[in-house]
Amino acid sequence: MLKNKSRKVELKVSADGSHTLFVPELDEHYHSVNGAHNESMHVFIEPALRFCQKETVNILEIGLGTGLNAFLTAVNQGNKTIFYHALEKFPITPEAAAQLNFAKTESEQQLFSRLHNLPWNETEELQTGFTLLKDEADLTNIDFNKQYDLVYFDAFAPEVQPEMWSESIFQKIYDAMNSDGILTTYCAKGVVRRTMQAVGFTVERLPGPKGKREMLRAIKA
Ligand SMILES: C[S@@+](CC[C@H](N)C(=O)[O-])C[C@H]1O[C@@H](n2cnc3c(N)ncnc32)[C@H](O)[C@@H]1O
Repeated sequence: MLKNKSRKVELKVSADGSHTLFVPELDEHYHSVNGAHNESMHVFIEPALRFCQKETVNILEIGLGTGLNAFLTAVNQGNKTIFYHALEKFPITPEAAAQLNFAKTESEQQLFSRLHNLPWNETEELQTGFTLLKDEADLTNIDFNKQYDLVYFDAFAPEVQPEMWSESIFQKIYDAMNSDGILTTYCAKGVVRRTMQAVGFTVERLPGPKGKREMLRAIKA
C-alpha cells in the first residue's frame, strides 16, 4: 500500500502490462484496467496532441496523477513547442512514482524520473521545447490566467467526482481555451456531452480505447 498526500493507493498492473493506481477510498483506478498506456495514447496523444496542427501548444491536464499523460506527451513531442500545465490536488509520492513502469528505455526512465522530481508550483524545462508546470491546485477553485490549445480532461469518473464534470467547470475551461482548442476525455456519457455542448463546445463521439465503445472530443469552434 502506497500513500499519496492524503489517500492510500495500491499499485496495479493493467491489461497491457502498464501500471495504474487504485484508490480504495473511491473504489476507482487512475486509468482503464484494460490498458493504462493504451488508454492514454488513444484518448489524449492520438486525438488531441497528434490531431493538433499547431507547432506551439499550451496544454492543460486535469489531473497529473501518475504523470503518464505528461510523460507520453513529452515522448511524442515531435517538432512542437509545449507548455504543459498539470493540475493535481493529491500529488502522488516520489516513492509511488518510482515504482511505475511506463518507461521503455533508460532515457525514458530518466525523463519520467525528472518529471516527478521537478518541484511543484514552479515552471521548469522538462526537456528542450517542453515547459512543465506541476500545479498543486484544485480545479474546482482555480482561476486560469493562460489560454490553452489542448485540454486532457482526465478526472475521476462523474459517478465518483460529479463536481468535476459540472457546467460551471466546463464553462471555466471553455473560457480558458483558444479558438480551435481541443478537449478530449475517456468519458462518453450523454450528460457530459450535453454539458459540454451547453457551454459552447462542438462535441464528437470517437471510438473508445479497449473496453470502451466511445470517448469524447470537444472543440471550441
Ligand atoms: C483518473 S486520475 C488520472 C490521473 C492522471 N491523468 C494519470 O494518468 O495518472 C484523476 C486525477 O485527478 C486528480 N484530482 C482529483 N480531484 C482533483 C481536483 N479537484 N483538482 C485537480 N486534480 C484532481 C486525482 O488526484 C487524480 O490524480
